[in-house]
Amino acid sequence: MGHDARPVGVFDSGLGGLTVVRALLDLLPDEHLVYFGDTGRFPYGPKPAEEVQKYSIQITDLLLDAGVKMVVVACNSASAAALDLLRERVDVAVVGVIEPGVRAALGATRTGHVGVIGTVGTVSSGAYQRVAAALAGADVHLTCAACPGFVEFVEAGDVESEQVHILAERLLAPVIAEKVDTLVLGCTHYPLLARTISDVMGPDVVLVSSADETAFEVRATLEGNHHRPRPGDPQPVRRFLTSGDVSTFRNLGARFLGPEVETVEAWKW
Ligand code: DGL
Repeated sequence: MGHDARPVGVFDSGLGGLTVVRALLDLLPDEHLVYFGDTGRFPYGPKPAEEVQKYSIQITDLLLDAGVKMVVVACNSASAAALDLLRERVDVAVVGVIEPGVRAALGATRTGHVGVIGTVGTVSSGAYQRVAAALAGADVHLTCAACPGFVEFVEAGDVESEQVHILAERLLAPVIAEKVDTLVLGCTHYPLLARTISDVMGPDVVLVSSADETAFEVRATLEGNHHRPRPGDPQPVRRFLTSGDVSTFRNLGARFLGPEVETVEAWKW
């Protein structure tokens, strides 16, 4: 059986993808990892799909130059805009977050009424509707709502203030009105707002993040390709790169992810 000690590459527009990294570190603690947060150009959500595609290609090339054996698109906006394109362009496996999120929601819902919240780009792409229709047909009724502003609060380190609560009440009203029993956090930044979102949605609504399900897909892909490291390989190295402010990324990254975020490398486009 083959083995492969190259790192797994992960990217997002900023800090949100660290919610996926957390799940990866918990499930695959022996994997080396390179994370790129494009904080200098965030947010992706309001940008045209072509621009997000261009950035996603640049970052994927950078990760490949860093020697990764697969790429995890830990960003719904980039998954919606660029996943198919990236899969066509590169030789390594590319995993996104939308299909894992839909699968987790289908496993959690009892009524079939599922809400999805995400950025303007993700919601307007129709990607969630397409994946849900392919996986569950008419058995699921989706209500999608864009939540502009949430990502900016997270990147500023504000996840529980009164202002973010007031914004959540306004933005979540459409999914509350549809009486969903499950809500997909269709942006990797949103799990960091889970307490506020759950407060507003009420205790009966299950919040689903794609992080765990994505980590399972990464493991299955690595195992399927015989790309897992070997027991006894050197201690895993985790590299974090940002195109934005290094000390902000380090401080918030350590708060959101944990002690694994030690040194952060600056990247200039
Ligand atoms: N975390 C991202 C997502 O999952 C991107 C948010 C943004 O940059 O607007 O969509």
